[in-house]
Amino acid sequence: MHLKQLTRQYQKRVDHALEELIKNTSNIATKLHQAMHYSVFNGGKRVRPLLVYLTGQALNIPTEHQDTSACAVELIHCYSLVHDDMPAMDDDNLRRGKPTCHKQFSEATALLTGDALQTLAFEALSNNKYLDAKLILPMIKTLAHASGAAGMAGGQAIDLEATGKSLSLEQLKVMHEHKTGALIRASVQLGALCSKNTKDSELDALENYAKNIGLSFQIKDDILDIESDTQTLGKQQGADISLNKATYPALLGLDGAKNMANQCHQNALDSLSQFNHNADPLRWLSEYIITRDH
Ligand code: IPE
Ligand code: IPE
Ligand code: MG
Ligand code: MG
Ligand code: MG
Repeated sequence: MHLKQLTRQYQKRVDHALEELIKNTSNIATKLHQAMHYSVFNGGKRVRPLLVYLTGQALNIPTEHQDTSACAVELIHCYSLVHDDMPAMDDDNLRRGKPTCHKQFSEATALLTGDALQTLAFEALSNNKYLDAKLILPMIKTLAHASGAAGMAGGQAIDLEATGKSLSLEQLKVMHEHKTGALIRASVQLGALCSKNTKDSELDALENYAKNIGLSFQIKDDILDIESDTQTLGKQQGADISLNKATYPALLGLDGAKNMANQCHQNALDSLSQFNHNADPLRWLSEYIITRDH
């Protein structure tokens, strides 16, 4: 099966599981529930859930064991986007082709939506009915570490501090590895941690793969901000330049950034050399990350 078909199949699967989770948040505060639903079901590519499922596929892990992890990484991602768009951060009006959460609802609701999506992620992860608590605990730790000050939130803080300043190549890499790379790494790790049969050498190889696609993902995001258009992106094109954001194209130029993304893709492929054809979708996904148009 090709990546497009696989993507469609897994998108449907995670969307169904996410619907069930969000449905259960409807009985207290209607507006908060609506804003949570709005921020999750608005046309995201679902790359992080896909990574969970494809890692599981590479390791022959039953798909149903991965559903709560797939939901958890997407919920954290959606929360990070809701907060990223708020006036105190990137101050964006458009997300996934629709008004951002704070525009559609209010700033206060957007704040709470992020909070509630984040905690729902951990609730979902802890409710995996197929796995023993001994397996689930390291997964919770992994996601918490990747989302917090040592991961995504830390990276977002670096991003805000760096805005308007010029960073060195090394500092830029650290920022990208945290704000975007950490959750992408966690998606692969969660996929692998779901089985006690995963070997250390497989974990190391997958870690290396994830590091490289995590970096190429944000480099491509920076490139698209310049090369794509608002309609295709579903978010405001040129937003990084107008905010004077520290990005790879700003430091290396477009060609330099593209070379760097290609190098990461090559490194990601090299990392998977010990895996057989079951890891082909992970290889295709790495290519998709640097060739996508939004
Ligand atoms: C955008 O992520 C924000 C970054 C971390 C670069 P995606 O490009 O995965 O956004 P959606 O989920 O498809 O909207
Ligand atoms: C966002 O990076 C990273 C997180 C949300 C953690 P960007 O600010 O570049 O993402 P977009 O371009 O708004 O989607
Ligand atoms: Mg940002
Ligand atoms: Mg942003
Ligand atoms: Mg961006």
